[in-house]
Amino acid sequence: MSVMYIEGGVPLEGTWRVQGAKNSVLPILAGCLLTREPVRISNCPRLSDVDAAVDILHHLGASCSWEGEKLVVDARGACETSIDQGQMRAMRSSIMFLGPLVARMGEARVSYPGGCELGPRPIDLHLEALSTLGCQVQEQEGEILCRGRPRGGVIHFPFPSVGATENAMLCGVGADGDTTIVNAAREPEIVQLQQFLNALGAKVTGAGGSVITIQGGHTLHGGEVSVLGDRIVAATLLAAVAAAGGEVRVEGVDWRHLSTVLQLLEQGGCRVRSGVDSVWLRRDRYVPLRGGGCITTAPYPGFPTDAQAPVMAAFATARGTTIFQETMFSRRFGHVVGLREMGADISIRDQAAWVRGVPRLHGARVTATDLRGGGALAVAALGAQGQTILDGLEHIDRGYQDMEKMFGHLGAKMIRR
Ligand code: UD1
Repeated sequence: MSVMYIEGGVPLEGTWRVQGAKNSVLPILAGCLLTREPVRISNCPRLSDVDAAVDILHHLGASCSWEGEKLVVDARGACETSIDQGQMRAMRSSIMFLGPLVARMGEARVSYPGGCELGPRPIDLHLEALSTLGCQVQEQEGEILCRGRPRGGVIHFPFPSVGATENAMLCGVGADGDTTIVNAAREPEIVQLQQFLNALGAKVTGAGGSVITIQGGHTLHGGEVSVLGDRIVAATLLAAVAAAGGEVRVEGVDWRHLSTVLQLLEQGGCRVRSGVDSVWLRRDRYVPLRGGGCITTAPYPGFPTDAQAPVMAAFATARGTTIFQETMFSRRFGHVVGLREMGADISIRDQAAWVRGVPRLHGARVTATDLRGGGALAVAALGAQGQTILDGLEHIDRGYQDMEKMFGHLGAKMIRR
């Protein structure tokens, strides 16, 4: 197993075009099942989670091939109705195949999905949504069997779940009748999913707001989509500049998708400028960040739970105490163990992490235990004094494409061996 060697304390300088968003391409890949014609996906990130989705598509009978950074999916030959347990466990987003699979085949058999260990991650909202759309859902001995042609219906989500909203959209597009989703998630990735489905001939409106409506009964054709820039990778990069100092321009991301993160970094003393398709951030490495206040994670447009860990790593060396209140997942402070190894002063009470800024962190041997927690340890290591050896790269590779290349391009000393 390789590890990352990171030499900290080097300011980051330069420009980087951010990769396509993992959380956008995964539902798009599941949505490819809804058409019998080829779909070309450009700006597709090379990630192990994308490989896992491609594995599932192959298993179901679709063909997938890379043309440079474009992934071409042709699901004409899809004929399988069940997904292996191993494939389901490879990532959380494997559950996203359930809705389009039952819509396409009239039957889908899956097991519970895997993914980052962030506490219990139920799928009840996914299953209730599919049931509302007219599918018969049975659960027995860890297996989920979903049967019948979806008719459409009105789904009321008690909580705006991202994945359940996407699954409901994908199933609703394949349904015979119309679907309304009330209290839908409003993330930019949902807006992109709507754009993608409409480009294939679907009739979906309302994404980005709380009510999404879908006219069912349309046969989808092939098409092209360019995956939107990854706002969480962008947030990680900006947090790294806030931690190590320097001046970086991140291209390929819409600043409005990052506004809560940018506001916090600006309050902390970073200079931020936003363009149409880019964000520029500068931090004077001799002036520490200003901490203070309480950051509470929330569904979009609130502060993203996925940015909590990398941003916390930057505030570990801020002046003052910053509180991070996690409301989305019950075990999302896994990175705190590694940050403490590096000298951070953080205590956890219930769902809040109290980060008392220390003058500096030092290098250490630390292990990533989940994807964004891994991003946080890399951010901390880039700002720390001395060498960090970062383990658990299999988590990082799920969502950060060639992390060492990205930071290396900006002058960081980060080597995978
Ligand atoms: C997605 C993102 C993930 C992000 C999260 C919240 C993808 C691939 N992943 O995950 O990176 O951290 O949104 O922004 O897009 N819940 C239930 N029942 C369900 C579904 C969810 O109780 O059926 C709960 C979850 O346990 C969690 C909360 O709802 O507490 C939010 O989950 P959800 O929005 O569904 O997140 P994911 O789609 O899993």
